[in-house]
Amino acid sequence: GKDGYRHYMEKELHEHPQVIGQTLQRMVDPSTRRIVLPDLPFDLARVPRAIITACGSAFYAGMVGRYWLEDIARLPVDIDVASEMRYRNPPLVSGSLGLLISQSGETADTLAALRGLRERAVHILSVLNVEHSTMARESDLVLGTVAGPEISVASTKAFTAQLTVLACLTVATARARGTLKASDEEELVAALLDLPSRVADVFGQGDAIRQMARVVAEARDVLYLGRGSMVPVAMEGALKLKEISYIHAEAYAAGEMKHGPISLIDGNVPIVAAVPSGPLFDKTSSNLQEAKARGGRLLVFTDTEGAGRMSAMAERVVVLPRVHGFVAPILHAIPMQMLAYEVAVLKGTDVDQPRNLAKSVTVE
Ligand code: M6R
Repeated sequence: GKDGYRHYMEKELHEHPQVIGQTLQRMVDPSTRRIVLPDLPFDLARVPRAIITACGSAFYAGMVGRYWLEDIARLPVDIDVASEMRYRNPPLVSGSLGLLISQSGETADTLAALRGLRERAVHILSVLNVEHSTMARESDLVLGTVAGPEISVASTKAFTAQLTVLACLTVATARARGTLKASDEEELVAALLDLPSRVADVFGQGDAIRQMARVVAEARDVLYLGRGSMVPVAMEGALKLKEISYIHAEAYAAGEMKHGPISLIDGNVPIVAAVPSGPLFDKTSSNLQEAKARGGRLLVFTDTEGAGRMSAMAERVVVLPRVHGFVAPILHAIPMQMLAYEVAVLKGTDVDQPRNLAKSVTVE
């Protein structure tokens, strides 16, 4: 049942800390505090490149994964949505790593992409929530996202569990490839282990998120912005809003705004931005300043360090705990999902069963 929550989505949102904790428990050795992967049927150090493919939210998790694998493990990555990857016919180096991501393990497009990669002698590693699924049977290795059953059509905890697994995979790959100093590895693992309690703190921002939701619920169009690993988080936020509130939302890399979408901005288009402190903070702030100068109403997610600067400029600010930049996309995804949920509740939509959508898309 819903355990007293209004919807499965709300219940599943509140399972985030526990789910991230369980997923980490499977991957981190408590005594050495190192990431341990199951025995791999191939050598991560010798994989020439990774090809990531998935659909919907799982694809956005993959986009964050690309960012991490390139930056931390120095592994070249190609990525596309599965419905395109299966027809793209990219030149593939045999022995590459095919990284498939799916909650259900049954999504038709992702499964077809998996089969296409397999035929071309690519190793298949799947990040799956349903570990007895068709994709699981056809993979060389499955990394499970211990998220438990997800009932709500809009994915929540499965998404953050996918990110958690991809973060662990990145650290393990970086170690295998010798791209990470031991002290840096310790720092990243510590940031991951710290995450369940930081995530629990996010629920303390419920009132601020509901106030933001009132602004969004009145809008016809909403723009979501981020930079770096926050771009896919913005995309996840926009997808969630579309799915359950039926409000049109678009996500952009903040720096891309001036190449077109800024012409949309006026007082009727709220701008939701994920802006954690860190090296991209100033750049993103100036993009937001440009939007504000054109009448844009800024709704900003930042952390305790960014709060001062953002409060001076934004109409609404949600202040999240400060975490290591590595795990910031995981933390920031949660209030994005909460915002979409609160907007849908205000609009009175069928939150768990939005129109035209199915939990598992088993047709092309
Ligand atoms: O089961 P999968 O992870 O393969 O599903 C992929 C997408 O259909 C899924 O993430 C969809 O976008 C969700 N409804 C997002 O909330």
